[in-house]
Amino acid sequence: MSRIVLPAMAGLSFVSQWALGSPLSSGFLSSLPGLLDISAREATISSSCGTSGQASCHNTTSVSNLCCFEAPGGLLLQTQFWDTSPSTGPSDSWTIHGLWPDNCDGTFSENCDSSRNQNDITSLLQDAGADSTLDFMKEFWVDINGNDESFWAHEWNTHGTCYSTLRPTCLPSGSPDGTDAVAFFQTVVKLFKTLPTFTFLQNQGITPSSSKTFTLSQLENALTAEAGVKPALTCSGSNLNAISWYFNLKGSIIDGQFVPINSPESSSCPSSGIKYPLKSGSSSTSTGTSSTPTSTGTPGSLPSKATVHAIRSSGSTTGGLLSLGTWSTQTLATYTLSGTASSFTMTSSKGSCGVSSGKFACGSGVTSTTFSAISSGSNLLLASGGSTTFSSDGVPSGSTVFDVFSGSSHSQGYTLSIVGS
Ligand SMILES: *[C@@H]1O[C@H](CO)[C@@H](O)[C@H](O)[C@H]1NC(C)=O
Repeated sequence: MSRIVLPAMAGLSFVSQWALGSPLSSGFLSSLPGLLDISAREATISSSCGTSGQASCHNTTSVSNLCCFEAPGGLLLQTQFWDTSPSTGPSDSWTIHGLWPDNCDGTFSENCDSSRNQNDITSLLQDAGADSTLDFMKEFWVDINGNDESFWAHEWNTHGTCYSTLRPTCLPSGSPDGTDAVAFFQTVVKLFKTLPTFTFLQNQGITPSSSKTFTLSQLENALTAEAGVKPALTCSGSNLNAISWYFNLKGSIIDGQFVPINSPESSSCPSSGIKYPLKSGSSSTSTGTSSTPTSTGTPGSLPSKATVHAIRSSGSTTGGLLSLGTWSTQTLATYTLSGTASSFTMTSSKGSCGVSSGKFACGSGVTSTTFSAISSGSNLLLASGGSTTFSSDGVPSGSTVFDVFSGSSHSQGYTLSIVGS
């Protein structure tokens, strides 16, 4: 049911689209009212929506404020390519295709408002002070034929203009023209950084090879073990070629919360004999999604030792994580974090930490998974599979502790703030 992209044109246009739809995400701007300094390099725009409302596609009644509730395109797909012929992007990272807003039933709209089309994304981002987003795009959001500029414009014009929460009337008053598109590109980059498909597979022992083949369930199980949700894989013949990570959204594309969900459609790959071909070219730089730890010390970077505190929706802090990864109000454990804010692993005195079947745990038998850290106000929030939401079956006190789950499926939701120690 997903868009089918011919490999030779991957990244430039959709060749045919079956039943499902389109894409997108949030951002930050300079010279705007209410901006929030997130990375010390790019300011962010605030939607004032918050993230406590209903998740898109999960509302039980009609929602009237579509500035803070994505509709009708509330089924979001963050799509990525693994292009090897020719090789596109770093050899150790998948590349960005886009972020598409499908309708909840999988149908979709495109080209929703040509009056907001853009044709010079580079200048737009530069003028908005979004240079770090642009730099990242030049490395990780690349067109297979080298036409990055038209690829970016296509993604905004075709899909970005369809987001209800990015309509100009939803932006802070006084926002310059094009703020909607800048927010889109910033959100796509931010979300992509939480979905390091290459590293997810590598963590599970699956790396590109000129000879090896994989079964579809091997690939799907590996990715599901890492991310906690099942993506949809696309093959070109027997070659792994693309992936779609699915989300619903709480709040606005600008600064809302992406709630990871299992793919509502199945992968298009054969059930076995799948090749994951090698890319030629060099590996990614430190800004990317590589698992290679890079030096710290950049703004918003990750502490190497930290305690992890739970912040509930009321804003109050209630305890945090113990060394087994449970939620407690007892003395918090010190965690060792390795990697960069966009991709790191965690260990406690008990062992590696990971999310498996949605549950967070640390210990000697735990398979390490990759986390990211997302700045939110003055907090650095832990994210798993793109989501900063965690939940438990109750609130701890005294000696009572609770298991921690990624996502909001348990009754008590909270975020986890990383505090350097
Ligand atoms: C959810 O909200 C949208 C937007 O208001 C509306 O079109 C849709 O019908 C709602 N869904 C339900 C089940 O009420």
